[in-house]
Amino acid sequence: MGGASAARRRTPAARPRRTPHEQAVGRVKRRVVVLVASTAVLALAVGLSVAAAGTRGSAAKHTTAAMKAPKVPNAAAIKAKYGGQSITFIGDSVGGGHTRDLAIAKRFTHDTGIKVKIIPHSTASDQAYAQLARTFSAHSSSIDVAMIDVVWPGIRARHLLDLRRYAGDRPAKNCAAIVANDTVRGRLVAMPWFADVGLLYYRKDLLAKYGVEVPRSWPALAAAARRIQDAERAAGKDRMWGFVWQGRAYEGLTCDALEWIASQDGGHIVEPDGRISIDNPRAARAISAAAGWVGTISPRGVLNYAEEEARGVFQSGNAVFMRNWPYARALAESEGSPVRGRVGVAELAEGVGALGGAQLAVSRYSRHPAFAASLVMALTGRAEQKRRALAGGFNPTLPGLYRDPEIRRANPYYEVIAQALAHAVARPAAVTGTRYNRVSSAFANAVHAVLAGQADAATALHSLEGNLMRISRGGRW
Ligand code: GLC
Repeated sequence: MGGASAARRRTPAARPRRTPHEQAVGRVKRRVVVLVASTAVLALAVGLSVAAAGTRGSAAKHTTAAMKAPKVPNAAAIKAKYGGQSITFIGDSVGGGHTRDLAIAKRFTHDTGIKVKIIPHSTASDQAYAQLARTFSAHSSSIDVAMIDVVWPGIRARHLLDLRRYAGDRPAKNCAAIVANDTVRGRLVAMPWFADVGLLYYRKDLLAKYGVEVPRSWPALAAAARRIQDAERAAGKDRMWGFVWQGRAYEGLTCDALEWIASQDGGHIVEPDGRISIDNPRAARAISAAAGWVGTISPRGVLNYAEEEARGVFQSGNAVFMRNWPYARALAESEGSPVRGRVGVAELAEGVGALGGAQLAVSRYSRHPAFAASLVMALTGRAEQKRRALAGGFNPTLPGLYRDPEIRRANPYYEVIAQALAHAVARPAAVTGTRYNRVSSAFANAVHAVLAGQADAATALHSLEGNLMRISRGGRW
């Protein structure tokens, strides 16, 4: 699983106990971006920058035409061969994801005669994973096509069809790092669909009202959140909170907590060389600081928030800052949104957001591999990626699309996203391989216990390290 590791990693990798000299070197190096960089993710990011440079300041306009699903390529040939058949697609569920999937499926059925049953997966990524795992382990043919998280291709590979014979020149046109992520032992087990990165959302109007700059560090964010929250409450907005994020014990918390830790030089849980690094004082400080937000600048309910709960609070106007993925912008800016026109997007504190994203894969147990693959190709193709970028704010995985003038006009924040992608931190999925899910869930649970006040950070991370040693059979992933 090269791609998840292909994004940049923050230097230096945390070592459990460093000498004062090493710590000083670390602090200097932290400012310098010398990481295991993927030129491909960078190329995608540079493409984004170039696109943004020409369009800065232009307003986001989502035409209704942009919402229409595009024509399916080679539809007539597909129809002649497979018309009348049906397939099942386990698709998106977050934000407007399901509605968008329904639209493309309708078009696909119209053009090809193939019926598509769409089942939205669970909104929590790891529950969605468990759902698929059950079907796959039963070798069930009930699923043909599935949306899979960027951290899954390595774990799920043996249940997924090799798509090379259906993909033509598609892989070459895609972001190479993501294609590498989706290629496991030479088999292309998924097609890149969209790229994600953790971002900081803020209320432009409130920051301007209180003369507060967009915070660049976690303490600055906490201070700004506190100040604005308190002032707004004093002015009668008693439901206002400073900062909302993903605090439920699930994959999303793994992303948030990795951002806090990696951005403060606490490492990456497990380093690319397999060393378990989580039991270190910087990581403990980062988690303790986040625990201090709960009940002060973040509602206690944040302990049960996934992406959509955080967006609900922010979009209804009850939060100053939010951590979320790019999809949230299009929704917060949509017609009828109480915060429309007042939403700013920036890189997270210290410029470190988690790398995320989704791929589409065909089950190896599908009875209809050929036309299931044609649905995957239609959904991940240029026209649909463009529609998703315009209508949903999803980042295409086709670098060429960032030169598209309509896409350039649609999102004034592509430059920010470009920077965020270039600085993204990968979860340790590549190195932990098939054990990644156990690692992520042990990590999220340990962090959650600290956030909930049930454990202190140093103790929780120490026992997590022991737990990860056992999962990895002594660090031998
Ligand atoms: C987003 C990301 C995905 C991540 C998930 C966590 O869907 O694209 O990579 O695992 O959020 O909740």
